[in-house]
Amino acid sequence: MSAKKQLYEGKAKIVYATDDPEILLTYFKDDATAFNAQKRGQIVGKGEINCIISSHLFQMLAHQGIPNHFIDCPVPNQMRVWALRIIPLEVVVRNIAAGSLCQQTGLALGTVLKQPLVEFYYKNDALGDPLLTRDRLLLLELATPEQLEDLQKLALQINHHLSDFFRQCGITLVDFKLEFGINHQQQLLLGDEISPDTCRLWDNTETDPNQRVLDKDRFRRDLGQVEQAYQQVLERVLSLTGSR
Ligand code: TMP
Ligand code: ASP
Repeated sequence: MSAKKQLYEGKAKIVYATDDPEILLTYFKDDATAFNAQKRGQIVGKGEINCIISSHLFQMLAHQGIPNHFIDCPVPNQMRVWALRIIPLEVVVRNIAAGSLCQQTGLALGTVLKQPLVEFYYKNDALGDPLLTRDRLLLLELATPEQLEDLQKLALQINHHLSDFFRQCGITLVDFKLEFGINHQQQLLLGDEISPDTCRLWDNTETDPNQRVLDKDRFRRDLGQVEQAYQQVLERVLSLTGSR
């Protein structure tokens, strides 16, 4: 591969062009942010860990028939992906009440939802990624009604497969955020990453509400042992996929 041209730097990743316009190279950073980047820090080793975890989850999802942007992982903190035009939506799926759902509705932390909740947030830092109604999303033409149907369906299928996978790791998938995009063939693909940065993951062997946290909430809420939690998720994913 020749000299890489940087296309975009986000809070957790840098995206480079490759010789092939249909393929991008994403570099996963150790940088961590929370609360729309008002809080900043580093989680040592996070780039590699999130890239490897995401790679395994994308491969598992592809195997289950969920189209996604993953191609391969040439080095531990770099992923080659199909180029997508990202739809500016953060698709959040929740199984258990936590985070902004608790803050905005008063539901108690840990309330098991009768059915998974799919929510759409506007991916727009300047506006603080607000929660959208269906009508506002259509008003802004962020997706067509057909795409919205597809996103909802895909999000629930992904939730089913991820919940199952993490259950086998002894982890409860509380909630998570997905991003989707359109490839050069005009197909809708799952993109971005799936990692302890973008999921809430609770250790089934712990009952203490702070001890059980294995995700970025350790950083957001200053719970300590952040690196160890990410490492713990990686080890369980690797032992389940037979990579270790
Ligand atoms: P929330 O409870 O703060 O709305 O977060 C819901 C899920 O989405 C949680 O798993 C963390 C993830 N998330 C992101 O990946 N990026 C974000 O910017 C935010 C706010 C949440
Ligand atoms: N993406 C958030 C930020 O803008 C971080 C988070 O809470 O996940 O900093």
